[in-house]
Amino acid sequence: MTTVVLWLFIVAGTCYGVLCSEDHLRDMDSFISAVEQAEESNPDLSPLALVRRLRRTAGHEDPLTLHFLGASNNISHTHTSVFNTTLFGFFDKAIHHFVTDRGEERGVVLTQDGTTVAIAPMLLGIEVGLKAKLEGTPPLGMFPLTLAKNLGLSFLSLQDFPPAQRLGPDGCWDNVTHPRVFKLSRVPTLATDALVNGGMDGSILGMDLATLAPSEQPGKLSKVLKGYYNHVLEGQDLGVVSSHISPKRREIAQALLGTLDTQRQVMETLYLVWRLENTQWIAKDTGVEKAVRDGMLEFVHRYWDCPPIIPRCQWGAAPYRGSPFPLALPLPFLYIHHTYEPNRPCHSFRQCSRSMRAMQHFHQEDRGWADIGYSFVVGSDGYIYEGRGWHHLGTHTRGQNSYGYGVAFIGNYSSSLPSRHALDLVRQHLAKCAVDAGRLQANFTLHGHRQLVDTSCPGDALYSEIRGWEHFKETSSWKKDQ
Ligand SMILES: *[C@@H]1O[C@H](CO)[C@@H](O)[C@H](O)[C@H]1NC(C)=O
Ligand SMILES: *[C@@H]1O[C@H](CO)[C@@H](O)[C@H](O)[C@H]1NC(C)=O
Ligand SMILES: *[C@@H]1O[C@H](CO)[C@@H](O)[C@H](O)[C@H]1NC(C)=O
Ligand SMILES: *[C@@H]1O[C@H](CO)[C@@H](O)[C@H](O)[C@H]1NC(C)=O
Ligand SMILES: *[C@@H]1O[C@H](CO)[C@@H](O)[C@H](O)[C@H]1NC(C)=O
Repeated sequence: MTTVVLWLFIVAGTCYGVLCSEDHLRDMDSFISAVEQAEESNPDLSPLALVRRLRRTAGHEDPLTLHFLGASNNISHTHTSVFNTTLFGFFDKAIHHFVTDRGEERGVVLTQDGTTVAIAPMLLGIEVGLKAKLEGTPPLGMFPLTLAKNLGLSFLSLQDFPPAQRLGPDGCWDNVTHPRVFKLSRVPTLATDALVNGGMDGSILGMDLATLAPSEQPGKLSKVLKGYYNHVLEGQDLGVVSSHISPKRREIAQALLGTLDTQRQVMETLYLVWRLENTQWIAKDTGVEKAVRDGMLEFVHRYWDCPPIIPRCQWGAAPYRGSPFPLALPLPFLYIHHTYEPNRPCHSFRQCSRSMRAMQHFHQEDRGWADIGYSFVVGSDGYIYEGRGWHHLGTHTRGQNSYGYGVAFIGNYSSSLPSRHALDLVRQHLAKCAVDAGRLQANFTLHGHRQLVDTSCPGDALYSEIRGWEHFKETSSWKKDQ
């Protein structure tokens, strides 16, 4: 009894609001506000000194990190204790990455755009960038520390599994407005989606800092993070937003890293890790090269060719009613729709999730369907939302549901078009992703909903747009006569 009371007292004594170290919210806003508090209580700490302190808090002193960044306590600053126990406890939990034996991923946070990010690789990229800027050197170790090591070790450790299982998975938060527990959706690899997202973010933010003009000084860490993670799209087309923001992570990372020989760099990172850690010379194993080559092809497919898809659990989907009917893949058709209602495009995870829930409610309650009708739904926030998904029969295009996926743009596109960015997500990414994964036939046919059913969907404006897309075909006469 006494012990319990004492324990409660200690816990209560270390908990203050968002920084409650035992049970804090695991979202990026809480992390940023903790960084702001650290900055306010240490006004003369430079951004580089702060990220080094954060690294030290999380105990990231592995040989590869030391090789590129040096020891985290090797700073000219004389501050002895920068963080009080509350902040220390918060950062320790927020940054230290691991997966529990119950499949819960720690050291990750939910960002405002609905994606989950591991903090550690993101901060490593920022530290590389700040160090390069300060010392006027190239950003050495950027790719190895943010991505290459995790990718290489994941490919190797899972060599005996199909390439698709050597990366990921994504997961689900217990509650997206009050996130506390992030459960992975299958057995974890050493390169979970959150680690890859954090690695891409670290490379992007780090390169931005490393390449600041000589006259410019890096801003505060909290400001850098807010600019990237908390950008508000006020109806803008993401395609014209030139600043680096999280919904554009995949395309910016691809532009940044896609020109590197990433396969060779992953190999070199593995050699370096083995040399630094004095591990057995595994490199004689000729399987390594193949594992890395196949792995990087899968990486490019999964994170660069495929669009980012927000899973059902994240937008708060109600369960499917009954048992879903499996599709026979690959399918020969892709059908384009607009939602008409909601009639306005959505520009944030919160708005788009609300639209998804409203449509699902309407389809289940008013139409009496088992689930939201569409296979996928396209927001104007940079994301595609999972409806019935790749494997289950939808209710979107009467009489044709088993032959094609139904993809709907949120909004009314009778007289205006979805954003260019949203159009490209489907035209360039979703279609290629589906073909490469064997879900759509390579010679698939694209139709607008109105070609098969008596409806104005997908709207005059959107319909004339897709008539110019590759794979679009006018309806054959036998089908029109049906
Ligand atoms: C630690 O610092 C934070 C931010 O400055 C403050 O809000 C909190 O009350 C402090 N905690 C303790 C235990 O002093
Ligand atoms: C510590 O910092 C100094 C100056 O930046 C550098 O020369 C030295 O190599 C560093 N030592 C370690 C262990 O990183
Ligand atoms: C999420 O948590 C908040 C606060 O505890 C609660 O009010 C809300 O109902 C929860 N949402 C869901 C979907 O459980
Ligand atoms: C959709 O847009 C058309 C053309 O602008 C308009 O006439 C129609 O009322 C709109 N429908 C809805 C539901 O907003
Ligand atoms: C598309 O390819 C499949 C399989 O290769 C073939 O059976 C089918 O006839 C082709 N369809 C069209 C429309 O060319």
